[in-house]
Amino acid sequence: MSLSPRFMDALRSRLSLSEIVGRRVKLTRAGREFKGCCPFHNEKTPSFYVNDDKQFFHCFGCGAHGDVIGFTMRLENLSFPEAVEALAVEAGMEIPKPSPQDAARARQERDLHALVEETTLFFEENLRRRGNEDALGYLRGRGLREETISGFRLGFAPADGGSLRAHLLKKGFRDEEMIESGVLHVSTRGEAPYAFFRDRIIFPVADRRGRVVAFGGRVMPDHLRPPSRSGHKPPKYINSSETPLFHKGEMLYGLAQARQAAGENHPVLVVEGYLDVIACHQAGFRGAVAPLGTALTEEQIMALWGMIPGREKVPVLCFDGDEAGRRAATRAASRILPLLGPDRSVKISFLPEGQDPDTLILSQGTKAFESVLGGAMGLADFIWSGLQAGRSVDTPEARAGLARDLEAEALKIADRSVQEYYLRSFRDRVREAFFAFRSSKNGRTPSVGLSVRRPAFAGERLRGAILVATILNHPEIFDAVEEDFCGLEWDDPGLSRLYGAVLSCLHTNPGLDRARLQGHLTGAGLENEMGRVLCEAVYNHAGFARPKAEREDALEGWRETLLSVRAQGMGQEIRNAKRALSGEFSMENESRLIALQKMAGKKEN
Ligand code: UTP
Ligand code: MN
Repeated sequence: MSLSPRFMDALRSRLSLSEIVGRRVKLTRAGREFKGCCPFHNEKTPSFYVNDDKQFFHCFGCGAHGDVIGFTMRLENLSFPEAVEALAVEAGMEIPKPSPQDAARARQERDLHALVEETTLFFEENLRRRGNEDALGYLRGRGLREETISGFRLGFAPADGGSLRAHLLKKGFRDEEMIESGVLHVSTRGEAPYAFFRDRIIFPVADRRGRVVAFGGRVMPDHLRPPSRSGHKPPKYINSSETPLFHKGEMLYGLAQARQAAGENHPVLVVEGYLDVIACHQAGFRGAVAPLGTALTEEQIMALWGMIPGREKVPVLCFDGDEAGRRAATRAASRILPLLGPDRSVKISFLPEGQDPDTLILSQGTKAFESVLGGAMGLADFIWSGLQAGRSVDTPEARAGLARDLEAEALKIADRSVQEYYLRSFRDRVREAFFAFRSSKNGRTPSVGLSVRRPAFAGERLRGAILVATILNHPEIFDAVEEDFCGLEWDDPGLSRLYGAVLSCLHTNPGLDRARLQGHLTGAGLENEMGRVLCEAVYNHAGFARPKAEREDALEGWRETLLSVRAQGMGQEIRNAKRALSGEFSMENESRLIALQKMAGKKEN
């Protein structure tokens, strides 16, 4: 659509912004403006202003602003041309006539749409025709309900190559158009064009507005298919070729339904196959889409972000849990990195090996799939875990190597600010991995001499658990204690891992609240470790660590605990230094002991 600025100005001035906004938001007059509660974020006191003179709205709470078109796009989840179209109708304006070429193209597209629609109806009816019970039975046997079959407009293509053509000719369509739309293919033997989809279950592929533009066709299972003479096995799925209506790399199966679901705050999911989308949808995961047998393209990634109306645009990509799935995820990550922006990312989740969403939901239920999604990793976590796996951080060279590879990934990000945060986060993680490694190594070093009683291990572990639990339940104190929290080390490997993850999580996502912090860690596979610190045993010693404690109490309790950890650590250090001095009397050992005693205020002798 090419619209002149004059048309756009006329459209805006014919519409009263406050009137259009007022239908969705209760507005009250505030001087020259109107104000109300922002429809784009949750608020109780109005910070959303509408100015009719300037034809603009602005929210001081979430920063949303724009004109009447932007408002309609966001609230109704429409594209720009769709919003203009809807508003033009409202304003009683006619959208200006396109050029002759535009008009010819539009006419051709309209004809093709009509043809593809007629073909869809033909396949749908054929699925219900007597004699084709096998096809319908197959779909029901795979767990599809009646309303799902009709909602996705599933169909069945007859085995013969001629009946679709005969039907469409009768409806007034020409061979040329049938070929152009991909439903017929030209015969290489000089015969009449023949139907491309034969003896296959049909999955109509609809564009964002729900108009069918292409088809996918699945073979019937072997036992319901006549044996082929040549013994040649047909491909399981075939798709329409590229047509003026259908560009495979830009299309996502399930897009129209998912877009609507996304508008109702359903999470957007990317799965692999047609039947996965349908199974997800049927199980209530209505934001599911799939690319059409290829890896995600740039256009598809942008389309995913485009369909999410909220501020945070983070679809979840589901991959198979096997090696191939992991490789596919890595490739997807590389393709996505250059496109990232503030609040625009993806999460990555892996299915149990040997399952796809369809089989998982059927065999283990909705909850099982939900927990797969709940375990989705942030993109940065995924890249980190992929590069760090199986690598040591015990030498400076190894750390430098890991840091170099992480940096190379981060540098693929085009957005400067996101890139900066990735670099920072990766640097922090290398450092934390090293701390964790060092403390686990110290933990394994046997203590010297039989006479030395280890400091009460439970005491140290308990104090550590208290410090971490308090942060987990009160991440709001993290800012105040960050410096002290960063430098800690733990003997206990589980605690150490959890501590490292908490740190990196809060570094990467400042301001994370309790639920999201804990959700994140669950997603990173740290549920058990978390369970071991968020428990009565810990709360009994430290009521301030409980979720319902006041922030001030949490902060004060945390600081006191830290002091006692330090005192304990200092005591241990001093004992070590004394032991070293009695083993070997050297200047160095002596001055170390003196320095420590000074630091501890000479409390220890
Ligand atoms: P799968 O082989 O995983 O099939 O292909 P599926 O979706 O699980 O199908 P069912 O459950 O066996 O019926 C995943 C997707 O890859 C594309 C299709 O889009 C399919 O949905 N594909 C697969 C093809 O394009 N061609 C093929 O021959 C196979
Ligand atoms: Mn499947």
